[in-house]
Amino acid sequence: MSVILLVGSSAREHAIARAIRKSPQTSSICCFASANNPGIQSIATSYEVGNINDPNEVVRFGMQCGAKLAVIGPEAPLENGVSDALWNSGIPCVGPKKALARIETSKGFTRRLLETSSITVNPAFKAFENIDGAEEYLQQLGDSYVVKYDGLMGGKGVKVAGEHLHSHNEALEYCSQLVKSGGGFLIEEKLLGVEFSLMSFCDGKTIVHAPPVQDHKRAFVGDTGPNTGGMGSYSGPNLSLPFLSESDIREAQEINSRTIEALSRECGQPYLGILYGGFIATANDIRLIEYNARFGDPEALNILTLLESDFLVLCEAIISGTLGNIDLTFSTAATVCKYAVPNGYPDSPVQGKKIDISNVRDLDLISYGAVNQLDDEIFITGSRSLAVTAAAASLAEAEFIVEEELSRIGGPLFHREDIGTPALIESYVIKLNNLRCKNVSQ
Ligand code: AMP
Ligand code: GLY
Repeated sequence: MSVILLVGSSAREHAIARAIRKSPQTSSICCFASANNPGIQSIATSYEVGNINDPNEVVRFGMQCGAKLAVIGPEAPLENGVSDALWNSGIPCVGPKKALARIETSKGFTRRLLETSSITVNPAFKAFENIDGAEEYLQQLGDSYVVKYDGLMGGKGVKVAGEHLHSHNEALEYCSQLVKSGGGFLIEEKLLGVEFSLMSFCDGKTIVHAPPVQDHKRAFVGDTGPNTGGMGSYSGPNLSLPFLSESDIREAQEINSRTIEALSRECGQPYLGILYGGFIATANDIRLIEYNARFGDPEALNILTLLESDFLVLCEAIISGTLGNIDLTFSTAATVCKYAVPNGYPDSPVQGKKIDISNVRDLDLISYGAVNQLDDEIFITGSRSLAVTAAAASLAEAEFIVEEELSRIGGPLFHREDIGTPALIESYVIKLNNLRCKNVSQ
């Protein structure tokens, strides 16, 4: 029986643990976690809470468990070289090594890599180490700019002109704040369009693409409010999204493939894991908002719900370079996933309060995120608390199931009721059509 080391304890890792358990191969999961996730604890045979960003600690636990393979969920362990350390200790790992993970951990690195590799998906951008020159660049971009922290900030380091920043002075103040906190930043041209995520699996030779998913980064209904880790996501029937054409999807797949090639060439080593492209379909083409070096959270919940093939076989193929030999299949159903988050999230979330899931009908639809279990009670810890994901023949049916289950959960939580609804989805279709029609008529 193979022992699988799972690193991380968010809803994404709960979904990964479920996918491993679903495999017909007998395996056991040992999880190195940052909190007591009751969902993963009910699946794993061994569970330890520790510093998941400490390579030595992760390796010690993996060796102790006799792990034959590791899957790393979140980005911070990748940045801290946990994958490198596991490979060095003889535990093959799904998740790129530190140098390759720069595709997520440094936005400046990624923009420059794409530029020098002639992958023309960047907005206009400039990277800054301090405030010098920022004012001039903002003047050049006018009202159409975005300011980004050049490092990991849990999806919350980006402020967009017109939404979060209302003048160059406000933008410069945010830039100064980022410099003071010890980081560089990027100023980018603000792209207009509709966002989507496309994840690809890579074994160093072959790249296989997952269906596209749309996440919703803004905290509140109507895509308003601050950026978050992601409030919920959906995927349409037939492995598509209602606002994308087949050629849009092919374009995004091609961009991921070319990026993996460029990145491996730049780093002189193969990319083994998942590459997640955060794209935006614009009037003219597909552009890149950001790259991540892992499964999206919540997008993993959609993808792993759709995945019909054996997830463990997929992981083994990634680490052994045999992805070309397996046939990866996904269900053609639609999926909807919504996060219940603490009241006040993301700026001043309620913490330490109890939630009640005793009325939930199908616990298999629940993936626990930022919660802690103490005795038999579940407490929220401040970030996205739990996700509800459902698959059905249509988006409307999947959305209905998710809302029903969310209404049965008690506690100081809220979620975005509009995610996955026909009205919101139609608004994306119209937005992109309008942009593209305007472009044709010009
Ligand atoms: P990121 O953390 O880079 O994914 O950015 C968070 C969110 O900020 C994205 O989902 C977009 O909505 C927005 N954003 C980031 N960069 C840009 C850009 N260049 N143009 C327009 N919106 C952007
Ligand atoms: N879906 C946003 C993220 O995983 O970063």
